[in-house]
Parts: sequence; structure tokens; C-alpha cells
Amino acid sequence: MREGIAQAIKRADYAAPAYWIRSVELTFDLDPARTIVASRMRVERNASGNGGALRLHGEDIEPLRVLANGQSVSFRVEGRELVIDNPPEGDFTLEIRNTCAPEKNTHLSGLYTSGGGFFTQCEAEGFRRITYFLDRPDVMAVYTVTLRANKARYPVLLSNGNLVEQGELDNGRHYAKWHDPFPKPSYLFALVAADLVAREQHVRTRSGKDHLLQVWVRRGDLDKTEHAMNSLIASVVWDEARFRLPLDLERFMIVAVGDFNMGAMENKGLNIFNTKYVLANAATATDSDFADIESVVGHEYFHNWTGNRITCRDWFQLSLKEGLTVFRDQEFSMDMAGSASARAVKRILDVRTLRERQFPEDAGTMAHPVRPDEYVAIDNFYTATVYEKGAEVVRMMQTLVGREGFAKGMALYFERHDGRAVTCDDFAQSIADANPGSELARTLPHFKRWYGRAGTPHLTARGRYDAPTRTYTLALEQHTPATPGQAEKLPFVIPVAMGLLTRDGRPMALRLEDEPADKAAEERVLVLDEARAFYTFVDVDSEPVPSLLRHFSAPVRLHDGLSDDELLVLLAHDPDPFNRWEAGQRTALHRLLAAVRDGQPLQLDAAFVEAMRGVLRHETLDPAFKDLTLTPPTETYVAEQLDHVDPQRIHAAREAMVLQLARDLRADWEWAWETHQVGGAYSPDAVQAGRRALANPALQMLCLDATARGDVLWQGKAYQRFKDASNMTDRQGALWALLASHSEMADPALQRFHDQFRDDALVIDKWFILQAAAPEKDGRVFARAKALLKHPDFTLANPNRARSLIRTLCGENPAAFHRTDAAGYVFWAERVIELDAINPQLASRVARALDRWATLAEPYRSAAREAIARVAARAELSDDVREVVTRALES
Ligand code: TRP
Ligand code: ZN
Repeated sequence: MREGIAQAIKRADYAAPAYWIRSVELTFDLDPARTIVASRMRVERNASGNGGALRLHGEDIEPLRVLANGQSVSFRVEGRELVIDNPPEGDFTLEIRNTCAPEKNTHLSGLYTSGGGFFTQCEAEGFRRITYFLDRPDVMAVYTVTLRANKARYPVLLSNGNLVEQGELDNGRHYAKWHDPFPKPSYLFALVAADLVAREQHVRTRSGKDHLLQVWVRRGDLDKTEHAMNSLIASVVWDEARFRLPLDLERFMIVAVGDFNMGAMENKGLNIFNTKYVLANAATATDSDFADIESVVGHEYFHNWTGNRITCRDWFQLSLKEGLTVFRDQEFSMDMAGSASARAVKRILDVRTLRERQFPEDAGTMAHPVRPDEYVAIDNFYTATVYEKGAEVVRMMQTLVGREGFAKGMALYFERHDGRAVTCDDFAQSIADANPGSELARTLPHFKRWYGRAGTPHLTARGRYDAPTRTYTLALEQHTPATPGQAEKLPFVIPVAMGLLTRDGRPMALRLEDEPADKAAEERVLVLDEARAFYTFVDVDSEPVPSLLRHFSAPVRLHDGLSDDELLVLLAHDPDPFNRWEAGQRTALHRLLAAVRDGQPLQLDAAFVEAMRGVLRHETLDPAFKDLTLTPPTETYVAEQLDHVDPQRIHAAREAMVLQLARDLRADWEWAWETHQVGGAYSPDAVQAGRRALANPALQMLCLDATARGDVLWQGKAYQRFKDASNMTDRQGALWALLASHSEMADPALQRFHDQFRDDALVIDKWFILQAAAPEKDGRVFARAKALLKHPDFTLANPNRARSLIRTLCGENPAAFHRTDAAGYVFWAERVIELDAINPQLASRVARALDRWATLAEPYRSAAREAIARVAARAELSDDVREVVTRALES
């Protein structure tokens, strides 16, 4: 724990380093209590700098000895830096020997132990917790790494690049030497020393080169690696096919580790993964786990080019690699999904994440631009804004230059910047320069406001039909509310993909006035680059229903003022499946908001129920799409539409809506349940998974309705399914049906689930998640969550486990968390404080559960503020948590 309040680091202060480190040889004598690190660096003065003291980063490590050109040199440790005031003239060799204590490293940043092995996590600033270094991404070096360790305990020794030597040493020890030919920033360094086994696969890339792929896991987990390996092979093939980016390494390794702060890490040639994103088989993982694994394996693999070959000049540019790589993994998953409707399902899921996580962030106390201007703890900026909104910014570029144009832009980006550390400007410039004459090239300086300005723009649309002239004029207007530190907002460049439908649902030809008659497509992209603009369509025979922002073509909030009747036209007929789903969500949202605003019990009207029945019974719609459409907007999303949020009222309204859909569509849910069973061997493919994605919610609805009527028949069926299920998706689905309908059989089922899976950590995580996520009723869920803190399987030391209970309750179950007696906020404050002493990164993520406290209604608002103030008043807090709670109190 550090003292005092750390200073904010500002983007405007960027300066190139005074020294470069061009190569480094590292030798590790691995010992859990005291590891010795010997580092030998080639240091060069930066010709354009003015020399002076050499200041190396270092944190929670002890120096033993420092030599420059083989001679001892005087140094001092000043805060978190090792300073050499008088380094030799010219280029020199610097040798440093230091120690660190991996088994005491509970931050899981730097070198730490997990499950009896050694693992590293260096992004963003973990390398300095291993040895003294210029730990910044613009310093790129060639690494040669020797690992020495006890052979029986650590039979596998891995680092980046290629294995060049290995052998035996005295005292039961052995060694391995690795060399990575690609210069890289320190955050991409990795090592692993553990007792692991690998699934291996050779692949041949288009150039005819052979590559070895490995997935390393603990003994006993090998039967859960097939899907990760298949995902990796698919990623290699996809990046070569779509972007002509081949695998550049002889060997590509994935290692799974049980204690990990994030999802996974793209270390060059040695990706380290949270076990959650590697291990899966039919019995232990759900369809969505399988999908997540595919997307994270893809994400880390794609970083090899977008992140590793071209990296970030400084951490303000984080979205250069993250936004782009999320965009790439989204495209990969869509291409893998195949059918148009499976693609749409993936797009809907991504937009849901954006709107439920990033929109609140952009409106809350931690709002920041995709390229932030300042930070205290960089770990706090691995956010939905940098990742998900960053991906939307890249997607808009693709929309503005076309898919081919975007591929050309990527090619130019690599031609110009391969092997370098660059900025978001360099990326946008490449895409624009490769597409002269495009809308991106035309608007580039304005377009780049997406990088620099926080906040979600509001886009208002109003259409006017003029029958005598057969014209339809669409007025588009944008406005962005102020965010902390950014009062004024200039207009963004907003691509609006759109179409017009007749009232009976037929697409119209779209021709703007002054355009030739042959220019009439049925979908087009309007580019709004001013505060307001008018678009007049000609030859419009009847008053249209506008379908705007198709595919969610820009990360904005659309207000088009469409009536319910108009939305129902889109729900039934829009050729764009995204907008079809959106229309259904909006009809549901209108009803939820009305009930929440006037506090009346929600009563569903026949038109809405019939529309939902129409979707559920539709002959051609994809089952997964039906599930998404019949699921009302989440409580979090409803809350985002309101200025004064009463989480309990929202919960009551949504529960009432779900119950009525269960009741009024009972026969239809029965039909859905019966007709969407899957026979034969389990496969996580989109077709099978899609059927389960409708059958399981159908079971839940049937349980809910039956239980409300005092009938236990469906509970019995759900319990039976729970017991007999041949895969985790169905087992968890049935268990959830029991939990969500507050069935008395939920407890015995939970007990049985625990007995059956007690030795599988990832499944026990699910066991905690299900209980913390269950719909709140009479405070029982909160009480159970509190009790679970004392369960022998619970621990704060393992991030997955801590998140399963705490993040789920505080971040994903508003009705259990926001209580009128403030007990949820007390729970939150206690956990943040406890966690901060162990793992600041994790603590600060939990801390963010109260980002939106200022929009809460009383009594929640005052109680939440008090809890935040209580945390902020602590003398001992990490920079991570301090930054989050301080910003929260400033609003
Ligand atoms: N670069 C990683 C990714 O997105 C993210 C990551 C992994 C990370 N571990 C981290 C970020 C620890 C901060 C701290 O693929
Ligand atoms: Zn990433």
C-alpha cells in the first residue's frame, strides 16, 4: 500500500524517453519466497533527448547490485524509481540483480504463484514488479530469457519466442533458454514455470511454413482443451484470410492459470489465459462459455498483429490496440457464426454489452474519452469505453470506407508502422489515406473527435412526409451532454445506416433529391457531420416508417419519436434484424418506463402480447433471435433511461412484465419447449446453441407461470431436466428456472449441483454466480449472498471466485444490491476495503459498481454517497481505488 495521493499522468506531457533499452538478457532463479532476477541490458542514449539521470521503474522489489559496463555504479532508490545519476557516456551495458517474492504477490501483477506454479502478468505496469526497467511501451527490446527452477516441481519452463537451449543443473534443478526475435515492449514479456501438460497441433500457413500450437493446462484438464485449440486454429486461418495477416512465430502457446485479474493476455507467443477462457467441455461449460472462449482466444491471437507487431506509444493510446482488436474479434465471431441471423445475434449481444456497460460509464463519474487525457492508475482505464466504444469507432471507419477499403487501410497501417509504437492518429490516418475520396478522408479531423471527447451523443430524428410532392424529409440533429472536465461538445461524425418501409412493411427505394434515378438503394448510410442536417427523399408514394441506425451504425442514443404502431411495423418487417430486435425492445421499454414513472402495476396490452406471440411462433426467425427479442430490457438498461432511479420499482415492473408474458403466452412457451429440444451429441455450434437458447428460457417461463398458479408440475419437470441434463447449458438452464421461479426445489438442486461439481473451480464459480444473480424477493438473495461469504469455498484471493459473488451481486443484481436499508452499500464498502488490501485492480473494479450513484433516487442516493465517502476516508488505499472513489465524490 502506498502513501499519499499519486499524481495524475497527462497525455499532453508525453515525451520520448531519455534512454532506450535495445536488448535484454534475463536470468531467473525461481523460488516462491525469493526469486533472484539478473538483467543485462544494452542501453542507448536517445539522440534527441538530453541525457541526464537514468530513471528506471521498480516496485515491490529489492536491488542487490548494479553494474554499468561491468563496473559498480552509484544508484539510489527514490520512491518507485531506481536512479543512476551519472551513467557512462555513450551506449553502455547495465547489469542489475534484484529479488522479488512471487508467493507474496497477491496483486497478481508481475511474477506470482498460482496452483503451485509461477506465472507473470506485465500489462500494463507489472514488469517493474519483476525487475528495474524502462517499463513503458515505446521502449522496445529483444529479449533472451533463461529460467532455472526445481525440475520436479516445475517441469515446464516457458517464455516468449523460441526455445534455444535446455538442460539439467545441480540439486534437482533444470533450465531453459528462450529467445524472442521480435523487439517488444516490456508489457508483452511473460514466463511460466509449472507442472503442466499440453495439447499440441501443427498447422501450415499459406506460405507453407509449419507452426506448432500448444494449449498448456494442469494435468487432468486436457479433456477441456479441444475447443480452445479449435478456436486458435480458426483464428490463425481467419486472420490470414480476412486481413492477410499470417502467424509470424514458429511456436504459439496458450497457458491457462486459475488466478488471473482479467480475461487473458497477449504476451508475444505466450498468451496467458484465465482458465475461464480456456477450459470447456459439454459437462462443465455452457454454450455462452464456448462462445466466450472462441472470442477471447481470437482476441488475444489477433493482438499478435494489432498490439504486438504495432504497439502503443503510450497508455493513452490503449484503444489503438484494444478497440481495434475487439472489433477484429467481433468480426471473427460473426464470420464464424455463419448465417445472417446468427451474425445478427452476435451483433445484438455486442450492442447490449455496449449499452449496458459503456453507456453508463460514459454518463457516470468515470466518463472518459476513448483516448483518455489523464489517469492516476492506468489499470482503471481498461474500460468498456476503451474496448467496446473503441471497437465501435473502428467499426464506423469501416462503415465509412467499406469493407474492402478498410482492409486496404489495414494494409497501409502495417506498411507504415510495422515494428513501431504509434498513436490512434496514426491508425485513423492510415485508414483515411488508403481511401482518398471516402467519407472518412473527407471528415477525418472531425471524425477523430470520437477519440477525444467523452459522452454518448443523442441523435434526434424527425421525418415529415409531404403527399403532394411525394417527398419525405428527415431532420437529424445531434447533441452531447457535458461530461466531467468537458463542458462543450462539438458535433461528431455519425454514420446513420437507414431504410424506409411502407406502412405494410415493404422496403422503399431511397433516392435523395438531386440524385440520378439509378441511385436508389433500399439501404444507405447518411453521414451527419454537423449539429443538424436535412435529407429529402423523392418519389415516396406513401408516408414511410423510418428504420434508422441499422446494425447500430454509431454508438449514440437515438430518439426518433416513433409510435408504438410504427415500431410494431419494424418489429414485424424490418429487413435489418438488428432494428427488428430493437423495435421489440423499445415497445417493451415504453411499457416498463410508463409503469416505473407512475408507479402503477404494469398491465400488458393485447397488441404487445400478440406481437411477442408473433415473434415466438414465427416460422423463419432464428430461435436465439426470438429469445433476445422476448427478453425485456435489463433493469440496468431501464435505469439508464431515467434521471431518478428507483431500482426496486424497476425490478417490480420488469418482474411483472416477465410474469405476464409467461402467463399470456403459456401455450406458446410449451410449444417452444417441446419443439426446441436437441438430440444427439452436444455441439456448441450456433444451430444447437440457438435451440437451447430458446428452450431454456421457455422452461423458465413455464416454471414461473405454474408456480404463480400454485402448480408444481413444471418445477418437477425442471428438476428432472436439471438432474438428467447431458450438458451444462441445459443443467444450468433448469437450475436457473428453479431459482428464478423461487421454487422450493431450488435449494436441493443447488446442493446437488455443489456435490456433483465440488472439485471443478469454474463450475463452483457458476454456483456462486447463480445464487448472487437470482431475482431478488424479500431480501432473500442478498441474505444468501452475505451468508455465502462464509462458505468454505469462498475466497477473496481468487479473482474469479471473488467476482462470482461480489461483482455479480453489486454489479449485476440491482434489486438485491440497492436496498432501502443501505445494507447493500455497507456490504460493498466492506468488500472494497478488504479486497484493496489484497488486490487493488480487482478492488477498483468492484468499486465501480457505484459509478452511477448520483442518478439514484432517495433514500438510495444519500446512502450510496455515504458508503463511497466511507471508503474514500481511509488513509490506506491503493491509487486504483482512490482514483475511482475520489472521482465518484467529485460529481
Ligand atoms: N491486454 C489484455 C487484453 O485485452 C488485457 C489485460 C490482461 C490486462 N491482463 C491485464 C489489462 C491486467 C490490465 C491489467 O487482451
Ligand atoms: Zn485486448
